[in-house]
Formats: sequence, C-alpha cells, structure tokens
Amino acid sequence: MAPEALPTFTTSDATTGVPAFDHDCGEPLPAFGSDFRWGTATAAYQIEGAADSDGRGPSIWDTFSHQPGRIREGHTGDVACDHYHRWEEDLTLAAGLGLDSYRFSIAWSRVQPDGQSAVNPAGLNFYDRLVDRMLELGLSPFPTLFHWDLPQALEDRGGWLNRDTAYRFADYAALVADRLGDRVPQWITLNEPFIHMAFGYALGVHAPGHELYFGALPAGHHQLLGHGLAAAALAERGGAVLLTNNCTPVTPASDRPEDLAAAAVYDTLHNRFFLDPVLTGRYPELLEEMLTASGTIHDGDLKTIAAPLDGLGINYYTPTLVSAPPAGSEDSAPPLPFLQLPIDGVPHTGFGWPVVPSGLRDLLVGLRDRYGADLPPIYVTENGCAYPDPVEDDGQVRDQERIAFLDAHVRAVREAITAGVDVRGYFVWSLLDNFEWAEGYTQRFGLVHVDFETQVRTPKASYHWYAEQVRAQRAGTR
Ligand code: FCB
Repeated sequence: MAPEALPTFTTSDATTGVPAFDHDCGEPLPAFGSDFRWGTATAAYQIEGAADSDGRGPSIWDTFSHQPGRIREGHTGDVACDHYHRWEEDLTLAAGLGLDSYRFSIAWSRVQPDGQSAVNPAGLNFYDRLVDRMLELGLSPFPTLFHWDLPQALEDRGGWLNRDTAYRFADYAALVADRLGDRVPQWITLNEPFIHMAFGYALGVHAPGHELYFGALPAGHHQLLGHGLAAAALAERGGAVLLTNNCTPVTPASDRPEDLAAAAVYDTLHNRFFLDPVLTGRYPELLEEMLTASGTIHDGDLKTIAAPLDGLGINYYTPTLVSAPPAGSEDSAPPLPFLQLPIDGVPHTGFGWPVVPSGLRDLLVGLRDRYGADLPPIYVTENGCAYPDPVEDDGQVRDQERIAFLDAHVRAVREAITAGVDVRGYFVWSLLDNFEWAEGYTQRFGLVHVDFETQVRTPKASYHWYAEQVRAQRAGTR
C-alpha cells in the first residue's frame, strides 16, 4: 500500500459550486512534539453491527433506525461495518497509521443489555479482546462510555429525562472500569451531550426522537450528572477522566443588539451548558434559572458535575453564524430564540458543512480565554469531513479534499498551541466510513473506504497521507 505522491491540492466543490478550498499542503506540517497524541475515532453503533449477537440488548438507535422515515434510505446499524466480526482487521488498519491512540466507544447495551442489571459476559469479553489487541499493536485505548446508544430499557423509563439514568450510567462506568481499568489509562465519559440533547430530545432528528424543544434541558443536566458520578467512579479506579463536547465558535450575524443576544443564547446552549458547570461549578444564569424553575437541579449536583477533569475532548466540525429569528416567526416550530444562518463564501464538504479551519484555532483560543486556569488540557477528539469518495477503476480513492481539510485543521491546532493553548492530541473522525446517524451510509467520513455490500476496506489517499504525517512527527523530522 505505497502512498501515491501527494502534490499540493486545491479542492473544488463540483456539487455545490461554492468557491474552491484553496489550501496548500505542500509545506510539511509543523512539529507537535513527541508527547502529542495522534489518533483516530469511531463509535460502537456506527461500526459494530451484530445488533442481535451474543446477548446484546437493543439500544435507542436500534429502535429509532427501524422506524420508517427516520434514517435516510431506511438504513440501520444492524450490520454497519460488521466491526464486531472484523475488529482485528480494523485494528490492524488503525495501527497501520502509526498512531499511538485509538478512540472507540463501548455499547452500553452490549455490556448490560437492560442498562441496569446483569452483565452480559460475552459483551464485556468483546471489549476485553479489543483492548488487549490495541495494546499489542501499540495503540493506547481511548474508550468513550456513552456515544448516544442508550439501552432501550432505560429509554422505556424516561431515558436521560429520568434522573435515575445518571446513576445507572455511573454503575455501568464502574463495572466496565473494574474489568478494563487495568489496561485503559483514560476514559471519555460522554460524547457530545449537547448534540444528543438537541437532536435526540429537542428536535427529534436523532434517537430517541423526542421533540421537546426547551423541555429537553433536563436531558442535558442528567447527562452532566451522569458524567460527574461516572468521573468519580473512574477516578476511584485510577483512570484519567475526559468529557467530550461538540463545540462551535459562534458569530453574530451583525452588531445589532438582537443578533448579539441571539448569538449569546446559542453559545450558552451549545457550548457553555456543557462546559461552565463542569469547569467552574456554575451554570450560566439563563440555564440556572430554567433548570431551577423545572426542579431539575438538586442540592449537590453542581459539585458532582464539577468533578476533576484530566482532559477535555473537543469535537470540531464547523463554526455557527447566528441571527435573531425573523420577526413574525414566534409561532413557528421550533420556537427558538435564534436562527442559524448558512455560511456563504467558503467551501463546503460533500455533506454541506462549511469548511473553516481557522474556526478550530479561534475555538481553542476562545476556550482558553474564557476558562483560563480552569481549562484542562485539550484533546481534539474528532475532526473530519464527508465527501463521496468513490473507488476509482484502478482501486484508488483519491480524496484530496479530505487531505486538504485535515492538513488545514491540523495547522489550526498548531496555531492554537503557538498561541498558548494546551492541546495534547488530535483524532481524525473517522477510521472507517460508517453509519452516519440520520444520514445512514450516505456520508463517508473515513480514512478507509468501506464497501457496505462486500465489507471490503480500501484505505483512501488520506489514510496514506495521515500515516506519513504521523511517521514524520514520530521520526522528529517535523
Ligand atoms: C459527531 C459525532 C460522530 C460523527 C461525527 C460526524 O457529532 O460524534 O459520531 O457522527 O459527528
């Protein structure tokens, strides 16, 4: 699998006709130092398949994906990348990148089919084997305990709207750490609690499919409580603890006071909701009022949520441009006090997401400016892009756009480090093309192409590019 010679790329977006992403990858990447962690990331429901195998219980994503009209083209994660059976091949691919870290997630309902009682030994054994093999391959396991696939049995009791789920999550975290903690040095408790709350409970476009708008806020608080309780259980067992949030730099559409106010509300919901209480022990005023009025916050919760954190995972894809909602839209659904605007004049990925690498630098610098000494070391636990990525007749996938995207974003991380932000790792989303939630298999984020008919894996040009970058960093030539 010799890498092709990689010239300087200029991406163009034939599908949307937006300006080309004019980015020069010709210069070698700057050095990040020998301690910097290079990785790639996946998540259980998106790759494992084997939905009914070996005692796995159903999760909310099994239920949701089987409901007509929920997922593009009616796709489900029943088979996904069949990683449950092909995990050795997939770990070999991850190791072939020369990485030191591999982020994956543990499917709660594979380990505890109903989310609260008996352990399924076969499920736990699967992750045990996975971790052992990672260590043999020189990959440090970076497991996420919850990447959105709540056991359906817990959803039947209210899911994250039910405070009890936080305690069930901590029990599950403890039992996984009891089994794997001797080999897992660090844990990510939750993946993107904002996206799970907003898409799953407020807007209904992800599992479990509720459309509660602001009634979804308790699902945010209970996830944070679960994080805090789990953090204590993991720390007791000697593990380093991280929380991964999806964060976005928010720009107001204008200096008009209504746009500034709308942008501040959006920033509060998307970013500060899941950072302020964790890092400072306080909710932003707006949220404190709403959560207190609904009786959601109990005495002591904020202390639990502010458990010491060894690192903060940041997933970055794109910035957000916000204005006040147009006049007369008060009665429309969703009745939100802000409007997200399209970002024009920049290239977009195949998924239609704006490509703004400087947003990652601005985000990281902004977090440092906002939280100062309260900010723990940052790991960029996801960054990547989806493009169509066809396998060409000669068997190659020439995903130059992804190479340009990753190159530019890695440089943005380096700029943030130069500006004094303590960033310690970078993980590409994703190792494999996989089940992209509501988009099914239509959006390909992988460094490795997956043919979902045959399960054949084909490393893309970006795979070879990333391997070369990591090799050069390791060799100290960059
Ligand atoms: C993130 C999710 C991840 C993947 C990427 C594209 O929000 O954490 O599972 O779907 O988006």
